[in-house]
Amino acid sequence: MRAAGVREIGGLVEVFDLPEPDDPGPGEVVIEVETAGVGNWDNIVRTGAWNVGLTPPMALGVEAAGTVVAVGSQVTNLQRGDEVLGHPLPLRHQGCWAERVVVDAGLVVLKPAGVSWETAAAFPVPALTAEQVLSESLKLAENETLLVHGAGSTTGGLIVQLAALRGARVIATAGPSSANRVAQAGAAEVLDYHDDRWPERVRELTSGIGADAALNAVPGGSTATIVTVREGGRMATITGDPPAAERDIRVTNVYVRPDATQLAQLCALLGEGQLTLAVGSVLPLADAATALEDAISGAKGGPVVLQVGPRLTGN
Ligand SMILES: NC(=O)c1ccc[n+]([C@@H]2O[C@H](COP(=O)([O-])OP(=O)(O)OC[C@H]3O[C@@H](n4cnc5c(N)ncnc54)[C@H](OP(=O)(O)O)[C@@H]3O)[C@@H](O)[C@H]2O)c1
Repeated sequence: MRAAGVREIGGLVEVFDLPEPDDPGPGEVVIEVETAGVGNWDNIVRTGAWNVGLTPPMALGVEAAGTVVAVGSQVTNLQRGDEVLGHPLPLRHQGCWAERVVVDAGLVVLKPAGVSWETAAAFPVPALTAEQVLSESLKLAENETLLVHGAGSTTGGLIVQLAALRGARVIATAGPSSANRVAQAGAAEVLDYHDDRWPERVRELTSGIGADAALNAVPGGSTATIVTVREGGRMATITGDPPAAERDIRVTNVYVRPDATQLAQLCALLGEGQLTLAVGSVLPLADAATALEDAISGAKGGPVVLQVGPRLTGN
């Protein structure tokens, strides 16, 4: 089967042939991949700093959407022909930038009707991250104030949407080209992070007290973010750079993990239109190296997706 990945840890992304998966084990399904998400986290896998369960030569990719084509003997939740999506770690055979992928049937969920293949592929990692930040790390409650630094990012944007749905007041930072999108996502205030005084503005907007909770989605942005949190508040970062603790603030360093129950609930919101995710660009599998560069640069204004299967657009 065709796949895109690396022949060695740290190698350049190439397109090559890999062996087809065997028949699925008792709890597994084989998915024919239609679309696969590309994130800057795939570069962390490429360079060996995130072990997703594979050794090279390996396809990269930790999220995908596609159709179930083979079902293990003990699988009861899925059948052939089901359209699914997921973040199926640890990977069992190959990564998601491949024509077929073997997954634990308990880690993928049905794709909501009406959600495009492109959006479905780009959704699992940032959506699960957002949910785990809000419900597990920050335990955000209705009417609390949340600061989201880097709300122009895919993950930050989903955190704004989910926090607003919970009835929180969201203050966000974003650049000029993302400001409208972030406001529409539910942010009450959007501050341009190019003005270094944005943390002071957050304090002004919270009567000098600070936000109840804050999320940092900007590499190197934690130190500025913690300034905005009230004494005894909570802060989470998703960029692996937790700041030194101060003023009784509880700091959490969040790393996404698969959770099909959460993903199904998030997919329900996506299917109902309560969550939205606009894809930045779609490239063929052959252009995986470019897709990864685009994801790292963040220049497409939205998530990057690989079209692996034959369909080009639509549901
Ligand atoms: N720990 C985990 O489990 C986990 C999970 C998912 C993502 N992440 C990490 O979270 C970060 C965001 O990921 P993503 O894929 O959501 O990002 P993304 O969509 O690629 O975000 C890029 C956007 O971030 C905004 N941005 C860039 N520099 C900024 C700055 N200095 N201040 C504020 N905003 C800035 C820009 O938007 P505007 O300028 O237009 O506002 C840019 O378009 C990455 O570092 C990623 O690795 C971690």
